[in-house]
Amino acid sequence: DLQGLDLRAEIDRLRKERNAVILAHYYQKPEIQDLADFVGDSLDLSRKAQATDADVIAFCGVRFMAETAKILSPEKIVVLPDMDAGCSLEDSCPPEQFAAFRAAHPDHIALTYINCSTEVKALSDVIVTSSSAEKILSQIPAGQKIIFGPDKNLGGYLARKTGREMLLWPGVCIVHEAFSETELLKLQIEHPGAPVAAHPECPPYILDHADYVGSTSGILAFADTMPGDTLIVATEPHIIHQMQKAAPLKTFIGAPGADGNCNCNICPYMALNTLEKLYLALRDLTPRVEIEEGLRLQAKKSLDAMLAMAS
Ligand code: 13P
Ligand code: SF4
Repeated sequence: DLQGLDLRAEIDRLRKERNAVILAHYYQKPEIQDLADFVGDSLDLSRKAQATDADVIAFCGVRFMAETAKILSPEKIVVLPDMDAGCSLEDSCPPEQFAAFRAAHPDHIALTYINCSTEVKALSDVIVTSSSAEKILSQIPAGQKIIFGPDKNLGGYLARKTGREMLLWPGVCIVHEAFSETELLKLQIEHPGAPVAAHPECPPYILDHADYVGSTSGILAFADTMPGDTLIVATEPHIIHQMQKAAPLKTFIGAPGADGNCNCNICPYMALNTLEKLYLALRDLTPRVEIEEGLRLQAKKSLDAMLAMAS
């Protein structure tokens, strides 16, 4: 029974006792972001997980992120407060089907978004994140044929931006698919001149209205330097917590879904992590991420390629 426990104090005590580091993604609840040792985008979090000298990584994000931490830091205990914290992009790309897709296109390399299972990473040549994709793509020789999966929106955005043709896996993020173009246009009329910042997982009809397109950390940097004092944010709305902390006098508005508000754009997987579950994960050192060693080494190749090409 956790009633009456001061969860923040208990988490702090356990973090020291276990020599644990708490890593959190920008889509986590504000109370988790606030007590994390580090908050970041997928690339920053991978780098932190690799570099930390903690014995335990408590990963407040989704499963593919915690698995990435384990792949890069196998000697550490990696706990995820809720093992059901999956990702719709990962679900859209079952490894057997991806393997068949690769086999059907043997002259293509697989450039793969980090939002996928460890098995799909093991079937890929180079992993990318939204913050590193363009830089990595620019290092792949012209003429080299490319499969890009699992996010067709990120893949389509990269193809339009760089002029590089890629064979796209048809996956989407349910959260970023939920934005409504009609409601966004209405919001822009209510806030004339307010820029729109969007994550590249958004469909093209949303990205078409964006003044800035980038990863969560890129969007935060844009919020710092943007013209004016009101920003429309087309990504998971928990990121607004960091913006509001950095600039309390500015106004940040989550882009709406079809119902006219931004609550339908909360990531249901990210939202599974709570302070209570984080406390239990640190106390019991479970649920733990475990990956079979052969699979880990195979997946590490494509992640190492990303880290080398992104630096
Ligand atoms: P970032 O790497 O931009 O933080 O994106 C992670 C993610 O899951 C977006 O939906
Ligand atoms: Fe996956 Fe979308 Fe949630 Fe990111 S926001 S973790 S891509 S479901």
